[in-house]
Amino acid sequence: MKAYKIAVLPGDGIGPEVMEEAIKVLDGISKKYNVKFEYNYADVGGAAYDKHGTAMPAKTLKICEASDAILFGSVGGPKWENLPQEKSIERVALLNLRKHFDFFANLRPAVVYRELRKISPLREDIVKNGFDLLIVRELASDVYFGKKKTGRDFASDEMIYRKNEVERIAKVAFEIARKRKNRVTCVDKSNVLASSVFFRKIVAEVSKKYKDVELDYLYVDNATAKIIKKPYELDVVVTTNMFGDILSDEAAAASGSIGMLASASLNEKGFGMYEPGGGSAPHLTGKNKANPIAQILSAAMMLKHSFGMEKAANEIEKAIRQVLTEQRRTYDIMEEGAKEVGTKEMGSLIAARIK
Ligand code: IPM
Ligand code: MN
Repeated sequence: MKAYKIAVLPGDGIGPEVMEEAIKVLDGISKKYNVKFEYNYADVGGAAYDKHGTAMPAKTLKICEASDAILFGSVGGPKWENLPQEKSIERVALLNLRKHFDFFANLRPAVVYRELRKISPLREDIVKNGFDLLIVRELASDVYFGKKKTGRDFASDEMIYRKNEVERIAKVAFEIARKRKNRVTCVDKSNVLASSVFFRKIVAEVSKKYKDVELDYLYVDNATAKIIKKPYELDVVVTTNMFGDILSDEAAAASGSIGMLASASLNEKGFGMYEPGGGSAPHLTGKNKANPIAQILSAAMMLKHSFGMEKAANEIEKAIRQVLTEQRRTYDIMEEGAKEVGTKEMGSLIAARIK
């Protein structure tokens, strides 16, 4: 029997609750597909800070290293809000993981399920056919990891891209486009920034090896407008770390529920970390209210990208759609006529469809 080790990092707030539901679904997949999942739990985020004085303990990194994939919950909360920037829970937990494993490719899908188009804040005529865009965000460079300087009367962050960094993210985008609609939009600010001129130039060079994939360009300010006016015209968007951070939140908001979106962060070896798009939602903690679908979809992404279990991943997505079609909804995606269910019920409903 095939066996996979999964580092499970539930984190703070609703993290542990929604993680439990993802595990429920994975257990179902394990039975049906005859694979073994070994869950190795580790502390991260505020929970880790309280116990070990850091949001990303060395022991947690070790457990991740010894695993085949990382399933991440969410971190942070009001209890730790006043820590100085260098100790900030989200920053320490996420940036250390990204740096340590060189997770340079961040796949952030923003999808409006047909079943849920009413919950999108966009006008009905814009979302009538749903939309399905994928932001391929470079995650290991740019202003996030450039040199920082703070003087008495100035502060600066270096915005930098190196050739190999752009090449590798461009390749990821073109490869994925081949499995979708053969279209990539490069988003940058090359009318102003040197690093963006360079980013665009290298993306264009890489595209020569992908003649079957159509490439176009947008400045980031235009891209923000496009996401709310004609999101259906975008398919794969490849962009820098900073712009990808902003655009992916915008696209998630346009889709209507951050509780429905997951993301994957991958390195060159194909090792990956999978997490829900939303945060730790402290106000929902312990109330059996949070939507577990994003965490469940992150597990599906893990099956697809890390374990080559595409069929199982599709089955999870199908199960989710069925439950939505049957009008079972968590509070954040409620509609008139639907029945509201809690975190656990939603998890069980989805798991029950994996048989
Ligand atoms: C994200 C987050 C992180 C980022 C923060 C918490 C460091 O906003 O994953 O998008 O900016 O990348
Ligand atoms: Mn962000």
